[in-house]
Amino acid sequence: MHTILAKTQLSPNVTRLEVAAPRIAQIRQPGQFVIVHRCAGAERIPLTVADADPAAGSITLVIQAVGKSTRDLVAMEPGEAIQDVAGPLGRPTELITSGHALCVGGGVGTAVVHPIAQGLHRNGARVTSIIGGRSKEWVIFENELRRFGEVVVCTDDGSYGRRGFVTDAAREALAAGGIDVVYAVGPVPMMRAVAELTRPLHVHTIVSLNPVMVDGTGMCGGCRVEVGGETRFACVDGPEFDGHQVDFALLADRLSAYRDFEQKANACAEETCRIGRH
Ligand code: NAD
Ligand code: FES
Repeated sequence: MHTILAKTQLSPNVTRLEVAAPRIAQIRQPGQFVIVHRCAGAERIPLTVADADPAAGSITLVIQAVGKSTRDLVAMEPGEAIQDVAGPLGRPTELITSGHALCVGGGVGTAVVHPIAQGLHRNGARVTSIIGGRSKEWVIFENELRRFGEVVVCTDDGSYGRRGFVTDAAREALAAGGIDVVYAVGPVPMMRAVAELTRPLHVHTIVSLNPVMVDGTGMCGGCRVEVGGETRFACVDGPEFDGHQVDFALLADRLSAYRDFEQKANACAEETCRIGRH
């Protein structure tokens, strides 16, 4: 059992949980994730290890409440325990040890960028982070990322930082030159747009993919993606891949294939709540 040690609301639908997981806290590396199984019968949810405190034996998980399973998870309170936390899973991030890295985080993807920026900083690389959200209250991990280098904040509506998408600021940073590698994590259209910015400049670009995952061990095929014309499994071959090689159209298509099912699960959960209230 993995006790929830602390809980913080980061944005209107994003929650941060500090969870007891001493072994994972000791060995996790940037880019790796865990699969969380709240209780018997619950769905298994893949979550990036956004941070870890080996001394306290805890890991940080950042959850966007978008469906029944994630809402159930963020409804848990400190003192309650998650049944299983499996990991660390996936390949660690390919980190440079010198030079200038641009880390681009869109919305909740900024939590995935955090351990990457942390690892780059620890390695001695220069880190510039560009992070964004719909408006001020959706911007997360700004202060944490400032510990590793310059941070440019963007909001779609201009309520905080500069107005516009993170890709607008990334375009300018790339035009200024001197960027050796780009790490981009966020919604699929954002990662695709970043990859299209860097392709003509031949700047190596690493993206973190978030297909549906079930077992997290390469057995079920649920997380199948196409990279460089080959089928890869995000859970064991990724989740990070060369952004110039990823078939983003196929990824978006596969993600949307589950939308009907998720809407039905949500509607069913809401109906159960409504009946419970009466
Ligand atoms: P969002 O839709 O609010 O977008 C966040 C930011 O991304 C925007 O403020 C903007 O700067 C940028 N952005 C969005 N669409 C863009 C576009 N078409 N072109 C350029 N930039 C764009 O994001 P959110 O609600 O915080 O995140 C939800 C999405 O992120 C979901 O699709 C989820 O699956 C995905 N996600 C991905 C990962 C991952 O590992 N890649 C992790 C968590 C969530
Ligand atoms: Fe099953 Fe990757 S989650 S193969």
